[in-house]
Amino acid sequence: MLHSQKGGPGKTTLSCNIAHELAKRGKKTVIIDLDVAQPTLQHIFNIPKKDIKITINDILLGNGILSENNISSTSVPNLSIITASEKIVYGEGLLSLLKSIHEHSYFILHEMMRILQRMSYQYVVLDCAPGYRIESVHAATIADARIFVIRPSTFSFEGAKEMLQDIYKKLSYQSLNFFVFNQIPPELKVKSLKILHKWKEELERETGIDPIFLGFFNLSYDIIENCIHGEYFFPRKHSLYNQLSCMVDNVTQNIDLLKTQDEIGAGSKKRIALETATNGE
Ligand SMILES: Nc1ncnc2c1ncn2[C@@H]1O[C@H](COP(=O)(O)OP(=O)(O)O)[C@@H](O)[C@H]1O
Ligand SMILES: [Mg+2]
Repeated sequence: MLHSQKGGPGKTTLSCNIAHELAKRGKKTVIIDLDVAQPTLQHIFNIPKKDIKITINDILLGNGILSENNISSTSVPNLSIITASEKIVYGEGLLSLLKSIHEHSYFILHEMMRILQRMSYQYVVLDCAPGYRIESVHAATIADARIFVIRPSTFSFEGAKEMLQDIYKKLSYQSLNFFVFNQIPPELKVKSLKILHKWKEELERETGIDPIFLGFFNLSYDIIENCIHGEYFFPRKHSLYNQLSCMVDNVTQNIDLLKTQDEIGAGSKKRIALETATNGE
């Protein structure tokens, strides 16, 4: 799952690129839009409305059960998608939707993961709503890996620290916690870079959950320009693609290790400290 405290650090951008990369590696993957108040994935993957047979809203509200027949495919081989409904009626409609989600989402999400596993999906990428939204907290409870995305600002850092120390710490210790800084201006002053490194170390040492650092991802004008053309996947030759690929290695290898340790009932769990490609290097 990808999560943040505030909106806009790049959860959706990274979710799409992670899902795309996993699928490119031949893994049967599904990406899910869990940000029901701001649906985005349908546009990013250009899914025609007529091809959407079930949405996450239907699933969360118990109006439909996921199956091979109603999950949508994308133009990327091995990658399926569950979008969020665009048809929310704002005001009362949205409020009652959020209330219903509140009551049932944990069990429904849990069941959805079991169905996806039975459908032989190897990876499920959950693009979550920011903050303490209940479906995001429930997603954090069921995910094998939580990736927290942070922008380079004091409030984004403080928010990350607060959520990691609070909600993440209280949740299952079986899950892996990761964090990444995104949208770092490429030519930072040395004194600013020092602060970012200090924040990274503080999150590693002081949150009490040993989160794994996934890198400093640059703010890229190419990526912004590509969005104008409806292109959301990092080009293979772009430095962000290298970082993304390292990130996927890091997360998947740690998930594999966790699963193996679970199978053999290992008491103290080890983690792999992979080199992170920082600032495009
Ligand atoms: N590394 C980056 N470089 C440039 N623009 C980025 C980067 N990451 C995200 N963005 C842009 O920032 C905006 C917010 O990103 P988005 O993925 O929608 O965030 P979130 O899902 O966390 O709200 C989008 O316009 C996206 O294109
Ligand atoms: Mg988003």
